[in-house]
Amino acid sequence: MTRAAHRAVAEANTNIALVKYWGKRDARLNLPAVGSLSLTLDGLATRTEVRFDAALGSDALSLNGQPASGTPLSRVTQFLDLVRARAGIALKAQVVSANNFPTAAGLASSASAFAALALASTRAAGLTLDGRELSQLARRGSGSAARSLYGGFVHLHRGTRDDGADCYAEPITENGGAEAWGVRLVVAVTSDGQKETLSTDGMRHTAETSPYYAEWLATSEPDLKAARQAIAARDLEALGTVTERSCLSMHASAMAARPAVVYFLGATIDGYRAVQAMRRAGLPAWFTCDAGPHVKALTDAAHADEVAARLAAVPCVLRTLVCAPGQAARIVEGDA
Ligand code: PMV
Repeated sequence: MTRAAHRAVAEANTNIALVKYWGKRDARLNLPAVGSLSLTLDGLATRTEVRFDAALGSDALSLNGQPASGTPLSRVTQFLDLVRARAGIALKAQVVSANNFPTAAGLASSASAFAALALASTRAAGLTLDGRELSQLARRGSGSAARSLYGGFVHLHRGTRDDGADCYAEPITENGGAEAWGVRLVVAVTSDGQKETLSTDGMRHTAETSPYYAEWLATSEPDLKAARQAIAARDLEALGTVTERSCLSMHASAMAARPAVVYFLGATIDGYRAVQAMRRAGLPAWFTCDAGPHVKALTDAAHADEVAARLAAVPCVLRTLVCAPGQAARIVEGDA
């Protein structure tokens, strides 16, 4: 240990990719095959406490109030091993992590979970990392976690180096910028079931078997450029158009895998059609969807309630949620 800090608590918000990440160029270092661009969401956060303790014989994890073992614990231990190696410590840790949103909210929690774990564990281990280093570390837990360290719109750069030194997340606007513009993300939950294919497995299978994988990769850089231009111009229609096509291209590549990886339910397609109908009726709304069946619609503050009401009326939509741009990950308690 470089100093006495053994305990820290951090919070991080989840994010939703507008230009998607799908595919890895290096599985061990978890380097993405494409860059991605996201919006961090307000009100949907993971709070994680990490306490390194000489009395512990192994790492222990509590997840949403329940002791966790198996894959969740081994993913946390693998991640903490990176932190321990970097800090030159061997201490085991007690990790207590909870989401302030139900897992059934239909939003991925790995992004906020590994962002909060990266921040809390490095602080508790006495490390001081800059934003770029922290995002590279969070990426080892989950690609999307690298983006949750920042608020507002965030770009995770693909990079080209084998060691990943040029693969890091960078804020485009902090949440103040995205909020000043008034963007909103409406989530329509279509199922309370667990998703069928984990993103890592779906990506690997798509890369290995889909004849459309190369075409999907080729769409990424032009879409990132168009999204960045749209954000700079505060052009919601341009951003929404890229958002929708990036999502559908990603899913098309997965659906063409052999056998197919299909995340959509009937309600997902109905939600997509409802969003198209909203646009025909003059409402600004654009569809996106991750490695699960839930419908997400990009819109603005003036229309978010109307978009949510129309999505709530779609058969099989269970509930809706309106999210404003969220803030960056932060330390909320710490010894340091
Ligand atoms: O961060 P992961 O490994 O859970 O992958 C995220 C994949 C998508 O949510 C589908 C896209 C994205 O960029 O977040």
